[in-house]
Amino acid sequence: MLDKLKKRRTQYALGKKLPISETQVEALVKEAIRLSPSSFNSQSSRAVILFGKESDKFWSIAREALRAIVPASDFEATNQKINSFASGAGTVLFYEDQEPIKALQANFPLYAHNFPIWSEHSTGMAQLAVWTALADAGIGASLQHYHPLVDAETAKTWNIPASWVLTAQMPFGSNEAAFPEKTFIDDELRFRTYR
Ligand SMILES: Cc1cc2nc3c(=O)[nH]c(=O)nc-3n(C[C@H](O)[C@H](O)[C@H](O)COP(=O)(O)O)c2cc1C
Repeated sequence: MLDKLKKRRTQYALGKKLPISETQVEALVKEAIRLSPSSFNSQSSRAVILFGKESDKFWSIAREALRAIVPASDFEATNQKINSFASGAGTVLFYEDQEPIKALQANFPLYAHNFPIWSEHSTGMAQLAVWTALADAGIGASLQHYHPLVDAETAKTWNIPASWVLTAQMPFGSNEAAFPEKTFIDDELRFRTYR
């Protein structure tokens, strides 16, 4: 398990050559999300898995949404960033379905205010599971947040149910650069053990 977590890093240098088939990637993403925990086993996480031209379409939506708000003088840097995500093999869009969350709020009024928070936790766990599973398969990925800017156009393009809320975008592909060394803050700042 820890060896798999160690393999997971942010990869911005993505290419299109996947070490496994698209069908295998799809199965891996689905299984990682299926196996992820959720509050009251609500299974609120949803995903849209985009390959090739469909993924390009998503990054075009992001590019045009950004073009509308980023000053023209700064846009080239933004454009390059979007190009790097589009240069991968695909993108996973993570959603949380608000229907099961609303149902839990109605059924358990005592915890009503917690369910949206726990839904955020669930999507984070699903994201880590997918990111780690991709890394373990030799696939690079990063975690992006272009919502709510892209929500309307994305919903229209892939006919996303109104109750699904976009929580993250994960572009993935072949690892085209080595990972920079990662440093860690002191354990003393982070952990306390009592026994
Ligand atoms: C909740 C969360 C939000 C993040 N958002 C972004 C993001 O919007 N864009 C991005 O490039 N990386 C994002 N990251 C990735 C972090 O920058 C990255 O995980 C961190 O620098 C550690 O590097 P590593 O992933 O290589 O271990 C996010 C990570 C987390 C956990």
